[in-house]
Amino acid sequence: LKLLSFAAILACGLGPIAHAAEGELVIGTEGAYPPFSMADANGNVTGFDADVGNAVCAKLQLKCRFVVQAFDGLIPALNAKRFDIIISGMSITDERQKQIDFSRSYGEFPNHFIAKKDSELAGAKDLDTLKKDLGGMRVGVQAGTTHAAYVEKNLPDAQLMTYDTLDQMQIDLASGRLDTSFADVTAQNDFLAKPDGADFQLVDVVIDSSSDATLGTGLGIGIRKDEAELKERINQALCDLGADGSMKAASEKWFKM
Ligand code: ARG
Repeated sequence: LKLLSFAAILACGLGPIAHAAEGELVIGTEGAYPPFSMADANGNVTGFDADVGNAVCAKLQLKCRFVVQAFDGLIPALNAKRFDIIISGMSITDERQKQIDFSRSYGEFPNHFIAKKDSELAGAKDLDTLKKDLGGMRVGVQAGTTHAAYVEKNLPDAQLMTYDTLDQMQIDLASGRLDTSFADVTAQNDFLAKPDGADFQLVDVVIDSSSDATLGTGLGIGIRKDEAELKERINQALCDLGADGSMKAASEKWFKM
């Protein structure tokens, strides 16, 4: 029992939160989504989302504990109370808001297709051309993501292939079992920086959240619907972290932007 931190929270005039009695905030994250969330063999999580989580915990004067969970299962696990919040590069979407709440957005990254440098796809200059070129192509996405929802809705002629992890998708890209993949620009850049990514490039066409509602409205921290106070505290923490430069520092550290 961390009496000190607990007392500090009570001093704010708000009641106790889920794991506050143990003085900790338990965070669900994928741990396999560089550079947002990477877990090592001991379950230690690093990355942009880990920095955001640790900073939020510090503001709330709670200890952070990370629980690793496949992306597709994060929302059910949150609602089953396996952890208190989700931080996993997860976009705020209408679909997800039927099941959980989100904090204010803590970041937004555009989405890109990726393609072999010498392929016709690589040269696409506008979304209409790109959509036409993608017809019949094998398009990889991570299961349960906004990217999967976007391709399903907007590219009915493409062959959608879903992967549990980014890693599996990158293996299929490198070996030619996929023609392209669709993901956050940051995840795509992670692949491009690897030896396997050397022959690939981003397709110029930027697909941001204004392109289609399936892509959501920025990244949010997932919170159960019955946790209004926790949400309020987290929103305040995110405001403070924006104002004191912590968010900018984390972004520069992990995304060089
Ligand atoms: N922002 C996208 C979404 O919300 C991709 C998130 C992927 N995150 C992850 N941990 N794999 O669906």
